[in-house]
Amino acid sequence: MKALSMNDVDLAGKRVVMRLDLNVPMKNGVISSDKRIRAVLPTIRLALDRGACVIALSHLGRPVEGEFDEAFSLKPVAARLGELLGMSVRFVADPFAGLDIRPGEVALCENVRFLKGEKKNNPELAAKLAGLGDVYVMDAFGAAHRAHASTEGAIRAAKTAVAGPLLLAEMEAATQVLEHPKRPLYAIVGGSKVSTKLTVLENLLRNVDGLIVGGGIANTFMLASGMDMGNSLVEEELVPDARRLMELAAARGVKLPLPSDVVVAPGLDQPEKAEVKKAGEVKPGDCVLDIAEGSVQEYAAMLSDAGTIVWNGPLGAFETKPFDQGSRGVAAVLAASPAYTLVCGGDSIAAVESFGLGDRMDYLSTGGGAFMEVLEGKVLPSVAALADRIRS
Ligand code: 3PG
Repeated sequence: MKALSMNDVDLAGKRVVMRLDLNVPMKNGVISSDKRIRAVLPTIRLALDRGACVIALSHLGRPVEGEFDEAFSLKPVAARLGELLGMSVRFVADPFAGLDIRPGEVALCENVRFLKGEKKNNPELAAKLAGLGDVYVMDAFGAAHRAHASTEGAIRAAKTAVAGPLLLAEMEAATQVLEHPKRPLYAIVGGSKVSTKLTVLENLLRNVDGLIVGGGIANTFMLASGMDMGNSLVEEELVPDARRLMELAAARGVKLPLPSDVVVAPGLDQPEKAEVKKAGEVKPGDCVLDIAEGSVQEYAAMLSDAGTIVWNGPLGAFETKPFDQGSRGVAAVLAASPAYTLVCGGDSIAAVESFGLGDRMDYLSTGGGAFMEVLEGKVLPSVAALADRIRS
């Protein structure tokens, strides 16, 4: 990607504003994976080593914009960041109240999505965020596909805007898979809804040699291929789209297998009633909550000649046993594969790490949607803004 980096500017004595993606998974106020916090430690340390102070910005979750909601506060993240850095990190509830900060110090401001205008990329807000410091470092790869005030507008409004090292490394990895993948290139896309990944799936079908769909997405595809899905999570209104995607895959010679066997239960809250059924034998009261061993074996056979495998989104309700078995089985296939394996997105990484297989993958990306958009061939708004800043 074309952008200035932190090495291209003098940071000594500067106030460095950093847009990071500290959108970590939380359960009851407790951080369940600090991977995204760890991923930006080198960026913060680099600025401190160069004699700057750091004013960090991030979003967390999807609160109602403009409204404070404790459940989405970054306060616990500031505490964890301080622990990992081994120094105190000041938590700033209102970044515009006048922030007295010295070189060597780090502050983390409250969730930018509490600020009105963030998601609509309001230019005044963007200018105010950029104006918090002398240099704006964009290092939130996971949010680089959002044209928000802190991820796009502030880059354009800042006196000096540069890309952080995480963004540069992630873009390099994603571009490598997009432009020079070792083939065959297979994508595994899970998650609950086709609707959120419709364009991703459609565009992926132009690039990949095979696509495995999982989770609720697979349910809708199975429904579209005429199977009874009982009480499973499906999007009936997207059946025509699913059919169209299956036709597109067939026309392009892209493999798009569907599960041949599945794990069903009356609901997620009754895991003790889980049973394996053939995909065509799902009954009206059944919820399909995972793929079963036969499907894992078939996917393993398909993936056996892979040059590159990209995985985004779990294949079943992996947080509840025994519905983790499908994702666990596929993670084991990737771990043993000689192919270049890349896992992206918070849930998929959480799944792989919970199976103890994180370090057996070639690359774990902190971006989910952002990574998939690069793979679709889209230019991310933050990346475009940084490139424009070289020219301006
Ligand atoms: C992510 O988790 O994918 C990023 O932090 C972006 O979050 P968003 O989808 O809420 O914009």
